Amino acid sequence: MITGASSGIGLGIAQAFARAGARLVLAARDPARLQQAAASLGVPALTVPTDITHRTEVDHLVAEAIREYGHVDILINNAGTGLIAPFEKIDLKDAQALMETNFFGPLNCIQAILPHLIHQRAGHIINIASVAGLRGIPNSSLYSASKAALVALADALRVEVHRAGIQVTTVCPGRVKLDQTRFFETAKKYGSIELLHSPETLTVSEVANAVLAAAVRRPRLVVLPRHARLLHFFNRFAPRLVDRLLAKRMPHLTASSPCESR
Ligand SMILES: NC(=O)c1ccc[n+]([C@@H]2O[C@H](COP(=O)([O-])OP(=O)(O)OC[C@H]3O[C@@H](n4cnc5c(N)ncnc54)[C@H](OP(=O)(O)O)[C@@H]3O)[C@@H](O)[C@H]2O)c1
Repeated sequence: MITGASSGIGLGIAQAFARAGARLVLAARDPARLQQAAASLGVPALTVPTDITHRTEVDHLVAEAIREYGHVDILINNAGTGLIAPFEKIDLKDAQALMETNFFGPLNCIQAILPHLIHQRAGHIINIASVAGLRGIPNSSLYSASKAALVALADALRVEVHRAGIQVTTVCPGRVKLDQTRFFETAKKYGSIELLHSPETLTVSEVANAVLAAAVRRPRLVVLPRHARLLHFFNRFAPRLVDRLLAKRMPHLTASSPCESR
């Protein structure tokens, strides 16, 4: 079961799992785009238009998956959205909406599926977080906080459900090539921004293949690419150095924000 499967990383994950022979349940809000994504896979897939921020819709998604296949092996919590803006400009409503999608959405999916996984005494929950969830990134403070919350939730849950035969994996990708997802279109709500320089950008299929490999090996944490692993390492052992590095590379907003126009 893959959330956010109609675009970018989620669609890439669906393609990789389809090639590996998995039976798929795909969710996203826009039914037309979801249908189009499913049709592009070349294998049958169950599509259930779902807003993960609404618990009743998520319950329906899980019920449909169980009705179709009898059980769910893997939940991939991929749906998410970005927000790039200086912290002081962010409207509280936008902050709450971001947390709803990036944290409470995955939480809804986990809570809805967990009784089934516990009952079958098997299952794997894979959360697509971000390298920003391991180290707060300037001008992505709320996004970083939403992903850090997801990382912490997974760490606690992993230990709680281990004895029930359920694994929990957190995947933390660095930036994906801008033209391969819709992520930065929505993240630019507060104006266009010169992005933090990234030494290496990922392709959607690199992330998707890492998720597929994680479904086989079931590690606790996957960080990619290499420079993101280095950032994670140095942030643990030399956090001030990372502060200075990020301050040097911090991008600047070039347009006014909704807060300024109020
Ligand atoms: N792009 C990057 O550089 C990058 C890096 C690290 C991590 N990530 C993470 O990777 C995940 C996928 O991002 P992406 O880059 O592939 O973005 P994307 O191209 O914008 O795709 C987002 C997907 O999530 C769905 N979605 C958004 N809100 C939803 C909701 N409330 N309920 C259900 N589905 C929802 C969208 O479809 P609808 O709009 O139709 O619902 C779409 O299918 C996100 O969690 C993101 O934080 C991205």
